[in-house]
Amino acid sequence: DWTPGNVIADQIAHIREQVGEDRVICGLSGGVDSSVAAALVQRAIGNQLTCVFVDHGLMRAGEVEQVEKDFVAATGVQLKVVDARQQFLEALAGVSDPETKRKIIGREFIRTFEAAAREIVEEAGESGAEVKWLVQGTLYPDVVESGGGEGAANIKSHHNVGGLPDDLQFKLIEPLRALFKDEVRAVGVELGVPDEIVWRQPFPGPGLGIRIVGEVTAERLDLLREADAIAREELTKAGLDRDIWQCPVVLLADVRSVGVQGDGRTYGHPIVLRPVSSEDAMTADWSRVPYEVLATISTRITNEVKEVNRVVLDVTSKPPGTIEWE
Ligand code: XMP
Repeated sequence: DWTPGNVIADQIAHIREQVGEDRVICGLSGGVDSSVAAALVQRAIGNQLTCVFVDHGLMRAGEVEQVEKDFVAATGVQLKVVDARQQFLEALAGVSDPETKRKIIGREFIRTFEAAAREIVEEAGESGAEVKWLVQGTLYPDVVESGGGEGAANIKSHHNVGGLPDDLQFKLIEPLRALFKDEVRAVGVELGVPDEIVWRQPFPGPGLGIRIVGEVTAERLDLLREADAIAREELTKAGLDRDIWQCPVVLLADVRSVGVQGDGRTYGHPIVLRPVSSEDAMTADWSRVPYEVLATISTRITNEVKEVNRVVLDVTSKPPGTIEWE
């Protein structure tokens, strides 16, 4: 029988048997999947686990703080925060191709975990020891869409599946690999993960890096963060958070269009709103967000975000469009 309790009991037994006395790290993003995976592994092996939050600079506004406030406070998990903003920006410089971006981000995540693992061992005064295991919050749809499932096409390389380097030094623990998002949420509720995390909308590991069509730069990230914060604020204010599965906000950095603001001509970038409704992200429909809410978001973004002079709405279902643009 499938129940969250059974999944938890099975995984706890399996994880304990796998890792024995070894040290384990978990990449924590603040999202549902990695948080539930971390809570599950912590339940199994306690302080043999250290979570690593990689601040890659591709986060939305306020996310680092939120992980500390919501997740660490609720679980008491050991957390290491790594500032890798410069490293990721340098690695992504000059790159526009979506799959190349995904591979680079996947690789830099792993390099960062490796460095963090060495520091964790040193800080624990166990020099010579090694962290052998990495926990990831991989779900069943991530595996399928990265080409790992039987007969599945490689649609895109999810950073934690198809984006992993070949010379990976860690063995993987992926306790959610057979589950869909609604099942992960049920497991999270059972484990006592706070509502703010369990009901968070999905956000991809590669973050805003795959929401800038074109090269990723610090300036473009700042623009997109501002536009995204406005869209999220207004959708929340309108009470739409649970109706909408997620709403990617995308900056078309390689596109410009002519506009007029004040008494002057502008030549700025469009922002795309991509609100979708879905059960499991494998298919999706575009959300019928009320016109007044869209109007408010559009007015605010074009007034408040420099260089953006146009807001467009994506009305494509999945398929044929994917949820993210890259
Ligand atoms: P697509 O764009 O394939 O997205 O329709 C399906 C769902 O997966 C999320 N997504 C990712 N999540 N790492 C993640 O953790 C990734 O590399 C990744 N790529 C897409 C996307 O936000 C949507 O919820």
